[in-house]
Amino acid sequence: MSDLEQLSASCIYEIEQCTDLNRLNEIKSKIFGKNGCITAELSKLKDMNAEEKKAFGAIINSFKISLKEHFDEKMLKLQNEQLEKNLSAEYVDVSLPSYPVSNGTIHPVSKVIEELGELLRNSYGFQCSEGPDIDSEYFNFTAMNIPEHHPARTMHDTFYLSLPADENGRKLLRTHTSAVENRIMTDNKPPFRFFTMGRVFRSDYDATHTPMFNQLEGMIIDEKIGFAHLKWMLGDLLRKFFNTPKLSIRLRPSFFPFTEPSAEVDISYKIENGKMVLGEGNKWLEVCGCGILHPNVLKMGNIDTTKFSGLAFGFGIERLASLKYGIPDLRGYFESDDRWRNTFGFNSTDR
Ligand code: DAH
Repeated sequence: MSDLEQLSASCIYEIEQCTDLNRLNEIKSKIFGKNGCITAELSKLKDMNAEEKKAFGAIINSFKISLKEHFDEKMLKLQNEQLEKNLSAEYVDVSLPSYPVSNGTIHPVSKVIEELGELLRNSYGFQCSEGPDIDSEYFNFTAMNIPEHHPARTMHDTFYLSLPADENGRKLLRTHTSAVENRIMTDNKPPFRFFTMGRVFRSDYDATHTPMFNQLEGMIIDEKIGFAHLKWMLGDLLRKFFNTPKLSIRLRPSFFPFTEPSAEVDISYKIENGKMVLGEGNKWLEVCGCGILHPNVLKMGNIDTTKFSGLAFGFGIERLASLKYGIPDLRGYFESDDRWRNTFGFNSTDR
């Protein structure tokens, strides 16, 4: 056996014995690489005459081709083996039961906020406004005609914050969305119609009170705005919101420092087979406070009271949601219990 034949046989033997891809790559450079044995054999050509070159070159070439064939075959085999190994290691049993995935639901408060916003915008041309949760005594009380030491301030069980007071008084968590009214008045030129919805805070906790809840505040400032506008609009709004055309409303005289006259609005209902039926019967349920804005409130909002008057109303969002969707206890709204959310939440496709 010639030297070359011997070399080729040992290379083939090495390739055949190899069982590892990394090792095979090492063998590749040992045989075919720049410093490999084929290059070394080829370098002998330079010392040969033309005839020897031709013969030797042809032999090396055929050895090279046969080694390459062995090598490629082995490479494919090892790559396939590796692939099989990977596939069996990453095997996924698609027949196994899946983990339950919660889709989440739309909270009744969000649902009602959306419904009311749409009605106020589309049916009566209101614009939406927002105010801060952390507010000050001036906007929450003084600008709403509730001066310092007025007993009405104590009606609200206010959370005062241990932040430095400023020219607007002590910092507090707003107790009602009426706190946004003064800002709307000073920021806009009448006539206008605005609503705001959001969180309010009072130190109170039982089945019908939570320390945080949501309110809707509505306000119209225009020429010759009177009680008739207020009564018509609230009746129309409530009938549309509850999808109950025969819903009756009743306005009871009441007191709010920021409105004069003031009223509370009740809606009609009856109990049938232990269930509440809205819009029928002769029972009444309070849903909202309202009134004609007090001149002091308009003046503090820089509204020309010789030209403009205004109406305002305030609803509890959870109260409306409970009545419309039959949700009993107020506390469940904010306890983040999946069972509650799955019972009273809405599917996003119900919108
Ligand atoms: N701010 C009142 C409350 O939280 C609700 C309210 C009553 C708002 C009468 C009004 C209103 O705008 O006119 O109890």
